[in-house]
Amino acid sequence: EPVEAHLTVAKEVAGPRIEPEIYGHFVEHLGTGVYGGLWVGPESEIPNTRGWRNDVIEALRRIEVPVIRWPGGCFADDYDWRDGIGDPAKRPVRLNRWWGRVPESNRVGTHEFMDLVELLDSEAYIAANMGSMSPMDTSRWLEYMTSDSDSTLAKERRRNGRERPWRVKYVGVGNESWGCGGNMRPEYQADLHNRYATYLHDTLRVASGDGQRDDHLVEVLMERSGAHMDAFTLHYYTIAGEWEDKGPATGFGLDRWAKGLESALGIEERIVAVSGIMDKYDPDKRIALYVDEWGTWHDPAPGSNPGFLQQQNTLRDALVAAVSFNAFHRHTERVKMANIAQMVNVLQAMALTDGPRMALTPTYHVFDMYKPFRGATPLKATLETPRWREGDIELPAVDASVARTADGRVVLALANLDPRRSARVRTNLSGAVQGRILTADAIDAHNTFARPDVLVPTPYSAGGEGEALTLELPAKSIVVVDLPR
Ligand code: AHR
Repeated sequence: EPVEAHLTVAKEVAGPRIEPEIYGHFVEHLGTGVYGGLWVGPESEIPNTRGWRNDVIEALRRIEVPVIRWPGGCFADDYDWRDGIGDPAKRPVRLNRWWGRVPESNRVGTHEFMDLVELLDSEAYIAANMGSMSPMDTSRWLEYMTSDSDSTLAKERRRNGRERPWRVKYVGVGNESWGCGGNMRPEYQADLHNRYATYLHDTLRVASGDGQRDDHLVEVLMERSGAHMDAFTLHYYTIAGEWEDKGPATGFGLDRWAKGLESALGIEERIVAVSGIMDKYDPDKRIALYVDEWGTWHDPAPGSNPGFLQQQNTLRDALVAAVSFNAFHRHTERVKMANIAQMVNVLQAMALTDGPRMALTPTYHVFDMYKPFRGATPLKATLETPRWREGDIELPAVDASVARTADGRVVLALANLDPRRSARVRTNLSGAVQGRILTADAIDAHNTFARPDVLVPTPYSAGGEGEALTLELPAKSIVVVDLPR
C-alpha cells in the first residue's frame, strides 16, 4: 500500500520568478573537469569544435546552461590570467597546487573559456583572484576582456584573435577566503573585498561568502562590505557521512541513502539562516544570494587520483539535485543563482568521460526535467507528507515544488525520498498531466559507458479531464509534470 500525501496549491505566488541562473554550472581546472572532460584540443581525434568536445557540448546545449563559473574554486586564487593568453605553445606550465599538483598547461585560458561560454549561449562568471594577486590584476583582466577601446590591453586581445569585446556579467571577488582563498579572518576579508570591489566596474560584484556555517562571517561581510557587493555566496556540499568518511558514490546501503538526503535537505536551513542575516543589513533585498557551489561530495572513485574528485552519480544524486532545486525555488527572493559543482567529471557532474566515451548522469537528467521551471513563478503550496525512518534518521517522504510558467501552465515537481514505499499524492488540482519520471530499482542505479541508459527519464502521465489530480510516485523517484492551462 502506498503512503498518502496531500498537496494543496494556492493561486497566490510564493515569491519572485525562478531565475534561470539557478540552473548554473561551475567549471574548475581540477582533475579532468576541463582537460579531457570538456576540452580535447583542436588536434584531437575526438570530434570537437575548436577544441571543445562535441558530444559534451551537444548534451550541455540541450540542458541550456545559463551561466558558467570559472576557473575555480580554490584554483581561482592561485591563477594568473596572463598565463592563459597568447600563443598556446608559449604559455607557461604551472603546477596545479590544489588539485593533485599536476602540471597545468594553460592551454585553456580566457579566449578558450569565453569560446565555451559562447558555444553554450551562456554568461560568464569569472572567479577573480583575491588570494594571491592585486586588484590591478583583476581590473586589467576585465579591461582585456571587455574593453571596446584602443587601450593597449584591448589591442592585445585583438592581436590574440578576438576583435569584439566579450561580456562578463559576474565577477567573483575571491573564493572561500576563509580557506583556500587566503585563510583570512572575516574582518580582514571585508576590508580586502572593499578594496578589490573599488576597481570593478560594469559587472556584478560577488563576495565570497559562507561555506562553513559561519554566521559571524556572514554578519561581518554584510555589515562592512554590503555596500560594495551585488551578491553574496553560499557553498553547500551534500555529504552522506562525515568529511573524513564521506562514503562511496555507489554500493552504499540505506543508511548512506538516508544520510545523503538528510544532508541535502539541510541546504534549506542554511539558505534560511544566511538570508536571515542578510535581511538585517539589506532589508530591501538588493543583494542576491548565489549558491555558487553545491552538490554531492563522495569518496573518490576507486583507483582514481584522490585529488581529481571523480565520482559516480546515482539515483541518490538525482534526488539530491531535485530537493536542492525545490529548496532554491522556495527562496527566490534571495537565491538568484546556483552553480552545481561541477560540470564534467568532477563531484556531482552532468557527464562523465573516458577518452572518446561519454555517459550522461542522472543529475543531468534532473536538470533536463526541471527545464520548465526556468523563469516560472513559484506558487504557494502546502504539502502534508508522511515520514520514513532509517536508523535514527527520519525524513519526509515527499518533497515538492509548484510554479506557474509565463504562458500560464502549472509545473509540478515531486520527489519521493522513501526508498521502500510508493507515495500517492492527492492534490486540489484537476486535469490531466504529462511529463517524465526518473526512477530505478536499485538505490545506487547509475549510468556507465557500457550501459549509458540505465537511468533515463521515461514518460509519465496522471489524472484525466475534469478529474481530481492524484499522482502515484514509486519509491525513490522524481516526477516533473506540466498541467496545461
Ligand atoms: O569544488 C571543489 C572545491 O570545493 C572548490 O575548489 C572549493 O571552492 C571548494 O572547497
